[in-house]
Amino acid sequence: MKFFIDTADINEIKDLAATGMVDGVTTNPSLAAKSGKKFLDLVAEICAVVPGPVSAEVTALDHETMMKEAAVLRKIAKNVTIKVPLTPDGLKTCKALSDDGAMVNVTLCFSPAQALLAAKAGASFISPFVGRLDDIGSSGMDLIADILTIYESYDFNTEVLVASIRSPMHVVDAAKMGAHVATMPPSTLRQLFNHPLTDKGLKAFMDDWAKTGQSIL
Ligand code: G3P
Repeated sequence: MKFFIDTADINEIKDLAATGMVDGVTTNPSLAAKSGKKFLDLVAEICAVVPGPVSAEVTALDHETMMKEAAVLRKIAKNVTIKVPLTPDGLKTCKALSDDGAMVNVTLCFSPAQALLAAKAGASFISPFVGRLDDIGSSGMDLIADILTIYESYDFNTEVLVASIRSPMHVVDAAKMGAHVATMPPSTLRQLFNHPLTDKGLKAFMDDWAKTGQSIL
C-alpha cells in the first residue's frame, strides 16, 4: 500500500519524507489556503521534495478553464497529478487529460457510481472521502469495499486513493481491503509508528543495557 500525506505544510512534508514512508502528497484548495503560500510556488516546492505523485487541484468549475489551469500546473513538474472534482466538467477534463498522458486524481467521491464514472474517464486515482461519510452516519469503508469490487470486476487501472482519513484504523481497514493508496494527515502517519508496548519494551531494554556499563561504539 502506498502512503500519501494530505497536507500543504512543507516542513511536515520534508520531515515525514525523511522517514521513507511518503510515496506522494495530496493537497486541496483548503490546505493550500492554510499554507499562506502562492499556490504554484507551493506545488513546485513539494514536487522538489517528493518524487512521487503530487496532487494539485484545479479551481475552475468549467471544463475549458480547468484545461487551462491544468496546462499551467503540468508545467511545474513531471510528478504533478491534476486533481479535478467529481462533476461532469471535472470528468470531461479527466478524460481529456488522461488521454493526453497526464496523471489525474478525481476528488470528492462519495458513491460507487461516481467511482465507476471516474474509472471510465481514465482517472489514475479516485479519492473516496471516508471520514466525511462517517461524519454523516454512512460507512466510508463500505464505499471502499464497493469500489474495489467494481474496479476488480472490470480490470480498471484506476487506483483507489482512500482520502479524508481520520485515524490509523482507517488506514489498517483500507489496507486489509487491498486499497492501493491511503492519503492521511501528517499526525495520522506519525500515529502509525506508535504502540505503548513498543515504548515500554524499549525502556526496559535501555534500562537493562545501561546496567552493563557497555557501549557499542
Ligand atoms: O484532501 C482530501 C481529503 O483527504 C480531505 O480530508 O479531513 O478534510 O475530510 P478531510
